[in-house]
Amino acid sequence: MLLRKAFFAFLSLNFCILIHLTTSEFCTKLENTSTVLQANRAQFLSIADGAEKFGLELFTLISTDATDNDFVISPFSVWALLLLLVEAASENTLVELNTALRINQDRQALRQAFNVVQQFLLHKTSTIQVENLQAMYYDTYEKVSPDYIRTLTTCYNAKAQNLNFNDTKIAVNFINNAIKTETKGLISDAITADDVKNARLLLTSTLYFKGQWQFPFNRSDTRREIFYDMNGKPVGEVEMMFQMTPFNYTRIQDLQAHVLELPYGNENRLCMLAILPNKGISVNQVAQNLRKFGVRPIFNKIEEDALNYGEQDVEVYLPRLETTSTLSLRGTLEAMGIKSIFDPQTVNLLSQTSFVKDVIQSTKIIVNEEGTEAAAVVAAILTNKISPPKFYFNRPFMYLIAEKRSNTLLFAGQLSTPKLS
Ligand SMILES: *[C@@H]1O[C@H](CO)[C@@H](O)[C@H](O)[C@H]1NC(C)=O
Ligand SMILES: *[C@@H]1O[C@H](CO)[C@@H](O)[C@H](O)[C@H]1NC(C)=O
Ligand SMILES: *[C@@H]1O[C@H](CO)[C@@H](O)[C@H](O)[C@H]1NC(C)=O
Ligand SMILES: *[C@@H]1O[C@H](CO)[C@@H](O)[C@H](O)[C@H]1NC(C)=O
Repeated sequence: MLLRKAFFAFLSLNFCILIHLTTSEFCTKLENTSTVLQANRAQFLSIADGAEKFGLELFTLISTDATDNDFVISPFSVWALLLLLVEAASENTLVELNTALRINQDRQALRQAFNVVQQFLLHKTSTIQVENLQAMYYDTYEKVSPDYIRTLTTCYNAKAQNLNFNDTKIAVNFINNAIKTETKGLISDAITADDVKNARLLLTSTLYFKGQWQFPFNRSDTRREIFYDMNGKPVGEVEMMFQMTPFNYTRIQDLQAHVLELPYGNENRLCMLAILPNKGISVNQVAQNLRKFGVRPIFNKIEEDALNYGEQDVEVYLPRLETTSTLSLRGTLEAMGIKSIFDPQTVNLLSQTSFVKDVIQSTKIIVNEEGTEAAAVVAAILTNKISPPKFYFNRPFMYLIAEKRSNTLLFAGQLSTPKLS
């Protein structure tokens, strides 16, 4: 099987396959997303809502284990990866997956929802770059039905590849090269020999995102500053960016946090929600609150406040950040009730012998000042307000990168022990 060189080549390749398969009605053809959304809105929202709940639970569990570590995950791509297993699962395994992912729709609806979300996310603009790949590697001796492989490649833009896992070194190199290629060299050595040892199935997902701020920071305002832990003890230094702009923000009592919305591009679709816990409150506590509160109500509250209070300048101090995380998600997924996929005794996937060795996610995020010249001109800085509200992200905080129309959580991360690169 060919390694796809670039994501966009990859998309058009799938497009060709879809045209060939229309007569067999193998998979729902990619329709106009607005039409799909209008016709099946309730169905779509139910799936998107399940994906969000799953993503917030995943983030909360990881942040419980990683109190003092910076990390970033992509709830969307883990969700997408697990859909590949939903397509293969039956009986107890299917029940576990459906429960954890809160799925109560049929598979056609799932495929359609996946495609709608992916189109929203991968919508190419000059200011936003997203690279995403879901892949399943299966052992050469594993019997995998051609129909299943076609489902993955045509309905989920995923890669399915057989490898001889006994030949550990070759398998590891193959997977790492695939990930490196998909992320344009940004993520290498994601997988180790241990990950493939005795494996029958291995799933990987990769996501790279780089967005340009609608309101960029000016490099000449960036200063080296001290970063503190939640109790006010210095833990390191950051390159602190600064700007004063009428950003939308809100304070949410139920979260015990303030939330600032930093938009990407000019389309009001992708944004970062930078969430600053109240003094003395941990990121994990806020994550637990957020699980109950949900993301859509945050957007509603922000919009409400924007309407009530109008535009008001906000002073924003946000560290440059660059985080790469490679996480084995097996333990976390087991804690969420997805257990049998990892257990050869109870698994119900492709065949009697198929079980998953691990689910590994490599993610990288870069946050810096960047923006276009034109956008910088738009950022009118008003200096006549007496004392604008101040967002000082110089202690542990959480961030979400979300697509607003589908409410998809592209990324969720925390910064708590920054290191200057
Ligand atoms: C999708 O459908 C809507 C409404 O029917 C239409 O306005 C829009 O132009 C269509 N978009 C594409 C890309 O076909
Ligand atoms: C791979 O390893 C398994 C178990 O160790 C063994 O049964 C099988 O024959 C090996 N296959 C090859 C091609 O070496
Ligand atoms: C950045 O700030 C410097 C110094 O205040 C100023 O000269 C420059 O024009 C600013 N750049 C942009 C893009 O606003
Ligand atoms: C603030 O919210 C309003 C209402 O949703 C929106 O029109 C405006 O573009 C937002 N401003 C920024 C800076 O994001």
